Amino acid sequence: MSTPTTAPEPAADDRSTPWSSTVRRTADGSLEVGGVDVRDIAAEHRTPVYVLDEADVRARARAFVGAFTAAFADLAGADVYYASKAFASVAVDRWVHEEGMHVDVSTGGELAVALRAGVPGDAIALHGNNKATAELERALRAGVGRIVVDSLGEIEQVADLAAELDLPAPVMIRVTTGVHAGGHAFIATAHEDQKFGLSLASGAARAAVDAVLARPELTLLGLHSHIGSQILDLSAFEVAAGALLGLRAEVAEQTGTLMPEVDLGGGYGISYTGADTPPSPEEIAPALADVVRRSCADLGTAPPRVSVEPGRAVVGPAGLTLYRVGTVKPVVLDDGGTRRYVAVDGGMGDNIRTALYDAEYTAAVAGRRSQAPAVVSRVVGKHCESGDIVVRDVLLPDDVAPGDLLAVPATGAYGRSMASSYNLIPRPGVLAVRDGQARYIVRPETEEDLLALDLG
Ligand code: LLP
Repeated sequence: MSTPTTAPEPAADDRSTPWSSTVRRTADGSLEVGGVDVRDIAAEHRTPVYVLDEADVRARARAFVGAFTAAFADLAGADVYYASKAFASVAVDRWVHEEGMHVDVSTGGELAVALRAGVPGDAIALHGNNKATAELERALRAGVGRIVVDSLGEIEQVADLAAELDLPAPVMIRVTTGVHAGGHAFIATAHEDQKFGLSLASGAARAAVDAVLARPELTLLGLHSHIGSQILDLSAFEVAAGALLGLRAEVAEQTGTLMPEVDLGGGYGISYTGADTPPSPEEIAPALADVVRRSCADLGTAPPRVSVEPGRAVVGPAGLTLYRVGTVKPVVLDDGGTRRYVAVDGGMGDNIRTALYDAEYTAAVAGRRSQAPAVVSRVVGKHCESGDIVVRDVLLPDDVAPGDLLAVPATGAYGRSMASSYNLIPRPGVLAVRDGQARYIVRPETEEDLLALDLG
């Protein structure tokens, strides 16, 4: 069960709040974000709408860059990549790049967005376990700073392509360290039995190093590890970092090549309901720097330049989804209790995470303050499935009614980016708010957009 009915009224520096830092209640009780009243948003724009707080995104990007730059200053430095799968849009890639981040892309589509945002090729990393030749070619032509190779076959593919195009190909090797961390099994990515990376335990990662060194067309930048997502405990990152640095030292000893870089991936968790206190960049960066410092001293190797790839922690808390309530229905439960079903004008199409991962969210009546007692409520959508749940259990005021605005916080990451138009409900737009101004950075999809794809 999550949060009080009149949320949010937290101090802006409360780290466990799921609301972005500019969210306030106005004197008459409405929610305001980026200086814009949600009542004005709903009056001028279609609901549901994703609202993204630009100042909050920028502040989070700056905090990561600042903390890593400071923590690794006495080592070999650090770079912070925005994992744009969390929400790839031209505006966001531009904002975070302006704040000093590089950008990680996992497909040709995300690469196209980063390039359109003006991110220089050498500040882009390309990921993917099954990259198409066309994606690799585009990346090489754009002069990406690194291609993170994910299989032995891909190593030959990239080398052949680099030879054919006569272009440099800096690569990192995605290593599966065996460290399993994070939320749902679907978003944990470094255990053995899954599709990503080359296993450390089986020797595949070591073989990949030899395969890269055998191809003069490739430049071996280093090793990469991403262990999962929505991770709140830093110890798993420390174990994975130690494993990568161990392999790096082993390779140096056996081949004389000391790889200059190590990438420790992303996955830093955020607070979705107010119940969690996620680690801050100011805690994450020194913790990782300590591991690198200690491991390299023990191994007798010079420290590498380190990179990390946060996605969710940069944009997640900066976004909220604004819905309008359509129906309110009490449902009598088997145990005699009742649950209030509050149906909003979106649902699993704009937020699949609850259905897919059992993700937890909270919600608040946004257009007014209510003093009514709280009742156990379930926020559901308008899609044709009983699993179309946005917030499983939340306390909402007894007087919540059709027409009320409802805000669900922490939807900035993996919300719009995983949205679908199931049931032919057009996907919502993304409205950026800042200093009292609102503008679409992704326009709402329309019925005409959907019909235009249908060739009859
Ligand atoms: N780097 C790599 C190589 C990744 O695969 C990912 C996420 C990240 C960085 C960024 O992770 P973040 O900092 O955002 O946790 N759709 C799921 C999350 C999937 C994450 C996939 N990879 C969700 O909604 O929870």
